[in-house]
Amino acid sequence: MITLDQYSAKIATAKTPDEVESIRFELFGRKAGVLTLAMKDLGTKSPEDKRTQGQALNVIKVELEQLLDARLAAIASESFGSLGESDSLDVTLDLPEAEIGHKHPIHEYIRKAEEVFGRMGFDTANGPELETEHYNFDMLNIPESHPARDLQDTFWVSSLDRTVLRTHTSPMQIRYMEKKKPPFRMICAGKVYRKDSDATHSPMFHQIEGLMIGKSVSLANMKAVMEQAIRELVDPTVEFRWRTGYFPFVEPGLEMDLRWRGDESKSREGRWLEVVGCGMVHPQVLKNVGIDPEEFQGFAFGFGVERMLMIRHQIPDLRSFFQGDLRFLRQF
Ligand code: PHE
Repeated sequence: MITLDQYSAKIATAKTPDEVESIRFELFGRKAGVLTLAMKDLGTKSPEDKRTQGQALNVIKVELEQLLDARLAAIASESFGSLGESDSLDVTLDLPEAEIGHKHPIHEYIRKAEEVFGRMGFDTANGPELETEHYNFDMLNIPESHPARDLQDTFWVSSLDRTVLRTHTSPMQIRYMEKKKPPFRMICAGKVYRKDSDATHSPMFHQIEGLMIGKSVSLANMKAVMEQAIRELVDPTVEFRWRTGYFPFVEPGLEMDLRWRGDESKSREGRWLEVVGCGMVHPQVLKNVGIDPEEFQGFAFGFGVERMLMIRHQIPDLRSFFQGDLRFLRQF
Protein backbone atom coordinates (compact mmCIF):
# COMPACT_ATOMS: atom_id res chain seq x y z
CA MET A 1 0.00 0.00 0.00
CA ILE A 2 1.32 3.40 -1.00
CA THR A 3 2.03 5.93 1.76
CA LEU A 4 1.85 9.68 1.69
CA ASP A 5 5.24 10.19 3.41
CA GLN A 6 7.10 8.24 0.79
CA TYR A 7 5.99 10.63 -1.94
CA SER A 8 5.78 13.90 -0.06
CA ALA A 9 9.54 13.67 0.62
CA LYS A 10 10.23 12.95 -3.01
CA ILE A 11 8.10 15.88 -4.21
CA ALA A 12 9.86 18.26 -1.82
CA THR A 13 13.22 17.51 -3.42
CA ALA A 14 12.07 18.08 -7.02
CA LYS A 15 14.03 21.02 -8.40
CA THR A 16 12.45 21.68 -11.76
CA PRO A 17 8.90 21.65 -13.16
CA ASP A 18 9.92 18.63 -15.27
CA GLU A 19 10.90 16.67 -12.17
CA VAL A 20 7.54 17.49 -10.58
CA GLU A 21 5.70 16.38 -13.71
CA SER A 22 7.56 13.09 -13.88
CA ILE A 23 6.53 12.31 -10.28
CA ARG A 24 2.96 13.20 -11.22
CA PHE A 25 3.22 10.72 -14.11
CA GLU A 26 4.71 8.05 -11.85
CA LEU A 27 1.68 8.43 -9.54
CA PHE A 28 -1.18 9.11 -11.89
CA GLY A 29 -0.06 7.81 -15.31
CA ARG A 30 -3.07 6.23 -17.05
CA LYS A 31 -1.50 2.84 -17.59
CA ALA A 32 1.14 2.31 -14.90
CA GLY A 33 0.66 5.10 -12.35
CA VAL A 34 1.16 3.79 -8.82
CA LEU A 35 -2.13 5.30 -7.66
CA THR A 36 -3.94 4.35 -10.85
CA LEU A 37 -2.93 0.68 -10.32
CA ALA A 38 -3.88 0.79 -6.63
CA MET A 39 -7.32 2.13 -7.62
CA LYS A 40 -7.74 -0.62 -10.22
CA ASP A 41 -6.69 -3.18 -7.64
CA LEU A 42 -9.67 -2.18 -5.48
CA GLY A 43 -11.88 -4.11 -7.90
CA THR A 44 -10.48 -7.37 -6.61
CA LYS A 45 -11.17 -6.47 -2.95
CA SER A 46 -14.17 -7.33 -0.75
CA PRO A 47 -16.87 -4.62 -0.55
CA GLU A 48 -15.69 -3.71 2.95
CA ASP A 49 -12.03 -3.29 1.97
CA LYS A 50 -13.05 -1.52 -1.20
CA ARG A 51 -14.80 1.16 0.86
CA THR A 52 -12.13 1.79 3.53
CA GLN A 53 -9.14 1.48 1.22
CA GLY A 54 -10.88 3.49 -1.49
CA GLN A 55 -11.49 6.35 0.95
CA ALA A 56 -7.87 6.26 2.15
CA LEU A 57 -6.57 6.26 -1.42
CA ASN A 58 -8.74 9.24 -2.29
CA VAL A 59 -7.38 11.25 0.63
CA ILE A 60 -3.82 10.42 -0.46
CA LYS A 61 -4.62 11.28 -4.05
CA VAL A 62 -5.97 14.73 -3.18
CA GLU A 63 -3.03 15.46 -0.86
CA LEU A 64 -0.45 14.38 -3.43
CA GLU A 65 -2.06 16.53 -6.10
CA GLN A 66 -1.94 19.49 -3.76
CA LEU A 67 1.71 18.80 -2.92
CA LEU A 68 2.63 18.56 -6.57
CA ASP A 69 0.89 21.85 -7.42
CA ALA A 70 2.41 23.59 -4.42
CA ARG A 71 5.89 22.39 -5.40
CA LEU A 72 5.44 23.70 -8.94
CA ALA A 73 4.41 27.10 -7.59
CA ALA A 74 7.36 27.15 -5.21
CA ILE A 75 9.86 26.34 -7.98
CA ALA A 76 8.42 29.11 -10.13
CA SER A 77 8.67 31.70 -7.39
CA GLU A 78 12.16 30.59 -6.36
CA SER A 79 13.53 31.06 -9.86
CA PHE A 80 11.67 34.32 -10.26
CA GLY A 81 13.05 35.48 -6.93
CA SER A 82 16.67 34.86 -7.91
CA LEU A 83 16.03 36.44 -11.28
CA GLY A 84 15.12 39.55 -9.35
CA GLU A 85 18.56 39.59 -7.78
CA SER A 86 20.66 38.83 -10.82
CA ASP A 87 18.98 39.80 -14.06
CA SER A 88 16.42 42.33 -13.09
CA LEU A 89 15.27 44.53 -15.90
CA ASP A 90 13.64 47.62 -14.58
CA VAL A 91 11.77 48.91 -17.58
CA THR A 92 10.78 52.03 -15.71
CA LEU A 93 14.38 53.12 -15.16
CA ASP A 94 15.42 56.22 -17.08
CA LEU A 95 18.81 55.33 -18.59
CA PRO A 96 21.43 57.85 -19.58
CA GLU A 97 21.94 58.08 -23.32
CA ALA A 98 24.26 55.36 -24.66
CA GLU A 99 27.76 56.72 -25.08
CA ILE A 100 29.36 56.31 -28.49
CA GLY A 101 33.13 55.94 -28.36
CA HIS A 102 35.71 57.29 -30.76
CA LYS A 103 39.10 56.31 -32.11
CA HIS A 104 42.00 56.37 -29.69
CA PRO A 105 43.91 59.67 -30.10
CA ILE A 106 47.02 57.80 -31.21
CA HIS A 107 45.24 56.02 -34.04
CA GLU A 108 43.46 59.18 -35.04
CA TYR A 109 46.82 60.92 -35.18
CA ILE A 110 48.42 58.19 -37.28
CA ARG A 111 45.55 58.42 -39.79
CA LYS A 112 46.07 62.17 -39.89
CA ALA A 113 49.81 61.78 -40.48
CA GLU A 114 49.14 59.31 -43.30
CA GLU A 115 46.85 61.88 -44.85
CA VAL A 116 49.29 64.80 -44.46
CA PHE A 117 52.23 62.83 -45.90
CA GLY A 118 49.91 61.23 -48.45
CA ARG A 119 49.22 64.67 -49.87
CA MET A 120 52.99 65.08 -50.27
CA GLY A 121 53.13 61.87 -52.28
CA PHE A 122 54.15 59.40 -49.53
CA ASP A 123 52.99 55.80 -49.79
CA THR A 124 51.92 53.96 -46.59
CA ALA A 125 53.70 50.75 -45.58
CA ASN A 126 53.42 48.36 -42.63
CA GLY A 127 55.85 45.91 -41.10
CA PRO A 128 56.36 43.39 -38.30
CA GLU A 129 56.80 44.34 -34.63
CA LEU A 130 58.77 41.17 -34.02
CA GLU A 131 61.91 41.94 -35.96
CA THR A 132 65.20 40.21 -36.68
CA GLU A 133 68.52 41.64 -35.56
CA HIS A 134 69.36 41.72 -39.25
CA TYR A 135 66.69 44.32 -40.06
CA ASN A 136 66.57 46.11 -36.72
CA PHE A 137 70.36 46.62 -36.55
CA ASP A 138 72.71 45.00 -39.09
CA MET A 139 71.22 46.39 -42.29
CA LEU A 140 70.94 49.82 -40.68
CA ASN A 141 74.69 50.01 -40.32
CA ILE A 142 74.63 49.07 -36.63
CA PRO A 143 76.98 46.05 -36.45
CA GLU A 144 77.12 43.75 -33.43
CA SER A 145 80.09 45.50 -31.82
CA HIS A 146 78.73 48.98 -32.45
CA PRO A 147 78.05 51.01 -29.30
CA ALA A 148 74.85 52.31 -30.89
CA ARG A 149 73.21 49.00 -30.05
CA ASP A 150 73.41 50.03 -26.43
CA LEU A 151 71.72 53.35 -27.19
CA GLN A 152 68.48 51.49 -27.64
CA ASP A 153 67.34 49.47 -24.67
CA THR A 154 66.33 46.41 -26.58
CA PHE A 155 63.82 43.74 -25.58
CA TRP A 156 65.31 40.46 -26.79
CA VAL A 157 62.99 37.57 -27.51
CA SER A 158 64.65 34.76 -25.60
CA SER A 159 62.81 31.90 -27.30
CA LEU A 160 63.80 33.02 -30.81
CA ASP A 161 67.30 33.37 -32.14
CA ARG A 162 68.46 36.89 -32.98
CA THR A 163 64.96 38.31 -32.65
CA VAL A 164 63.88 41.53 -30.96
CA LEU A 165 60.76 43.60 -30.43
CA ARG A 166 61.65 46.31 -32.91
CA THR A 167 63.25 49.27 -31.16
CA HIS A 168 62.30 51.65 -33.96
CA THR A 169 60.40 51.66 -37.24
CA SER A 170 63.64 52.14 -39.22
CA PRO A 171 63.85 48.43 -40.23
CA MET A 172 60.92 49.27 -42.51
CA GLN A 173 63.27 51.48 -44.54
CA ILE A 174 65.21 48.32 -45.39
CA ARG A 175 62.20 46.11 -46.01
CA TYR A 176 60.70 48.75 -48.30
CA MET A 177 63.92 49.42 -50.23
CA GLU A 178 64.49 45.70 -50.76
CA LYS A 179 61.13 45.45 -52.53
CA LYS A 180 60.84 48.70 -54.48
CA LYS A 181 62.87 50.48 -57.07
CA PRO A 182 63.63 54.18 -56.42
CA PRO A 183 62.43 56.88 -56.68
CA PHE A 184 59.91 56.49 -53.85
CA ARG A 185 58.43 58.14 -50.79
CA MET A 186 57.02 56.06 -47.96
CA ILE A 187 55.87 56.38 -44.39
CA CYS A 188 55.27 53.58 -41.95
CA ALA A 189 53.59 53.93 -38.56
CA GLY A 190 53.55 51.42 -35.75
CA LYS A 191 54.45 50.25 -32.28
CA VAL A 192 58.04 50.11 -31.11
CA TYR A 193 59.52 48.85 -27.84
CA ARG A 194 62.29 49.94 -25.48
CA LYS A 195 63.12 49.23 -21.87
CA ASP A 196 62.26 52.66 -20.60
CA SER A 197 59.51 54.17 -18.50
CA ASP A 198 58.95 57.67 -17.17
CA ALA A 199 56.86 60.73 -18.04
CA THR A 200 58.35 61.01 -21.53
CA HIS A 201 59.16 57.30 -22.15
CA SER A 202 56.97 54.21 -22.29
CA PRO A 203 58.21 50.64 -22.98
CA MET A 204 55.79 50.56 -25.92
CA PHE A 205 55.20 53.65 -28.00
CA HIS A 206 54.43 54.62 -31.57
CA GLN A 207 56.72 55.94 -34.27
CA ILE A 208 56.19 57.17 -37.77
CA GLU A 209 59.05 56.47 -40.12
CA GLY A 210 59.53 58.24 -43.40
CA LEU A 211 61.78 57.65 -46.38
CA MET A 212 62.25 59.55 -49.60
CA ILE A 213 64.78 58.42 -52.19
CA GLY A 214 65.40 59.90 -55.61
CA LYS A 215 68.04 61.22 -57.93
CA SER A 216 68.25 64.70 -56.46
CA VAL A 217 66.69 64.56 -53.00
CA SER A 218 68.51 66.94 -50.69
CA LEU A 219 68.75 67.88 -47.03
CA ALA A 220 66.85 71.07 -47.93
CA ASN A 221 63.98 68.90 -49.22
CA MET A 222 64.01 67.02 -45.93
CA LYS A 223 63.79 70.18 -43.87
CA ALA A 224 60.98 71.52 -46.02
CA VAL A 225 58.97 68.28 -45.75
CA MET A 226 59.53 67.97 -42.00
CA GLU A 227 58.69 71.57 -41.21
CA GLN A 228 55.53 71.49 -43.30
CA ALA A 229 54.44 68.20 -41.72
CA ILE A 230 55.16 69.32 -38.17
CA ARG A 231 53.16 72.51 -38.62
CA GLU A 232 50.21 70.52 -39.90
CA LEU A 233 50.53 67.76 -37.35
CA VAL A 234 51.19 69.84 -34.25
CA ASP A 235 50.22 73.44 -34.75
CA PRO A 236 51.02 76.12 -37.35
CA THR A 237 52.69 78.17 -34.62
CA VAL A 238 54.76 75.34 -33.12
CA GLU A 239 58.34 76.35 -32.26
CA PHE A 240 61.09 73.92 -33.18
CA ARG A 241 64.84 73.81 -33.38
CA TRP A 242 67.25 71.71 -35.43
CA ARG A 243 70.29 70.09 -33.86
CA THR A 244 72.84 67.70 -35.25
CA GLY A 245 72.25 64.17 -34.02
CA TYR A 246 73.92 60.80 -34.39
CA PHE A 247 72.24 57.76 -35.94
CA PRO A 248 74.50 55.21 -37.71
CA PHE A 249 72.09 54.88 -40.65
CA VAL A 250 72.12 58.54 -41.68
CA GLU A 251 74.86 61.01 -42.60
CA PRO A 252 74.53 63.79 -41.70
CA GLY A 253 72.04 63.20 -38.90
CA LEU A 254 69.70 65.77 -37.41
CA GLU A 255 67.26 65.98 -34.57
CA MET A 256 64.28 68.23 -34.27
CA ASP A 257 63.07 69.41 -30.89
CA LEU A 258 59.66 70.94 -30.27
CA ARG A 259 59.08 73.52 -27.60
CA TRP A 260 56.74 72.78 -24.72
CA ARG A 261 54.17 75.51 -24.69
CA GLY A 262 53.07 77.54 -21.73
CA ASP A 263 55.61 76.06 -19.36
CA GLU A 264 58.06 78.73 -18.32
CA SER A 265 58.65 76.95 -15.02
CA LYS A 266 61.02 74.47 -16.65
CA SER A 267 64.71 75.10 -17.11
CA ARG A 268 65.70 76.50 -20.50
CA GLU A 269 66.72 73.03 -21.72
CA GLY A 270 63.66 71.43 -20.18
CA ARG A 271 61.43 73.45 -22.44
CA TRP A 272 62.43 71.40 -25.48
CA LEU A 273 61.31 67.86 -26.22
CA GLU A 274 63.22 65.70 -28.69
CA VAL A 275 60.66 64.42 -31.18
CA VAL A 276 62.24 63.73 -34.57
CA GLY A 277 65.40 61.94 -35.63
CA CYS A 278 66.34 62.26 -39.29
CA GLY A 279 69.08 62.70 -41.85
CA MET A 280 70.36 61.72 -45.26
CA VAL A 281 70.30 57.93 -45.68
CA HIS A 282 73.84 56.59 -45.17
CA PRO A 283 75.49 55.39 -48.42
CA GLN A 284 76.28 52.07 -46.72
CA VAL A 285 72.57 51.50 -46.03
CA LEU A 286 71.77 52.11 -49.69
CA LYS A 287 74.52 49.68 -50.70
CA ASN A 288 73.13 47.10 -48.27
CA VAL A 289 69.88 47.00 -50.27
CA GLY A 290 71.55 47.21 -53.67
CA ILE A 291 70.85 50.87 -54.43
CA ASP A 292 73.78 52.79 -55.95
CA PRO A 293 74.49 55.79 -53.69
CA GLU A 294 76.15 57.60 -56.59
CA GLU A 295 72.89 57.55 -58.47
CA PHE A 296 70.29 57.83 -55.70
CA GLN A 297 70.16 59.51 -52.37
CA GLY A 298 67.50 60.70 -49.99
CA PHE A 299 66.42 61.22 -46.44
CA ALA A 300 64.78 59.27 -43.65
CA PHE A 301 63.06 60.41 -40.50
CA GLY A 302 61.42 58.87 -37.48
CA PHE A 303 59.26 60.59 -34.92
CA GLY A 304 57.45 59.67 -31.74
CA VAL A 305 53.69 59.95 -32.04
CA GLU A 306 52.98 60.31 -28.32
CA ARG A 307 55.54 63.08 -28.01
CA MET A 308 53.96 65.05 -30.86
CA LEU A 309 50.60 64.70 -29.15
CA MET A 310 52.09 65.76 -25.81
CA ILE A 311 53.25 69.02 -27.38
CA ARG A 312 50.08 69.51 -29.32
CA HIS A 313 47.77 69.04 -26.35
CA GLN A 314 50.15 69.97 -23.52
CA ILE A 315 49.99 66.54 -21.92
CA PRO A 316 52.49 66.24 -19.07
CA ASP A 317 52.78 62.43 -18.90
CA LEU A 318 52.96 60.18 -21.95
CA ARG A 319 51.80 57.15 -19.99
CA SER A 320 48.27 58.65 -19.84
CA PHE A 321 47.72 57.40 -23.38
CA PHE A 322 47.86 53.78 -22.26
CA GLN A 323 46.04 53.80 -18.94
CA GLY A 324 42.56 53.64 -20.46
CA ASP A 325 41.19 56.32 -18.17
CA LEU A 326 38.04 57.59 -19.89
CA ARG A 327 38.35 61.00 -18.23
CA PHE A 328 41.58 61.42 -20.20
CA LEU A 329 40.38 59.84 -23.45
CA ARG A 330 37.10 61.76 -23.59
CA GLN A 331 39.00 65.01 -24.00
CA PHE A 332 39.94 64.14 -27.57
N1 PHE B 1 65.16 55.32 -35.66
C1 PHE B 1 65.60 56.50 -34.97
C2 PHE B 1 65.13 56.40 -33.51
O1 PHE B 1 64.31 55.62 -33.21
C3 PHE B 1 65.04 57.75 -35.56
C4 PHE B 1 65.54 58.00 -36.94
C5 PHE B 1 64.83 57.56 -38.06
C6 PHE B 1 66.70 58.70 -37.15
C7 PHE B 1 65.27 57.79 -39.31
C8 PHE B 1 67.17 58.95 -38.43
C9 PHE B 1 66.44 58.50 -39.51
O2 PHE B 1 65.60 57.13 -32.67
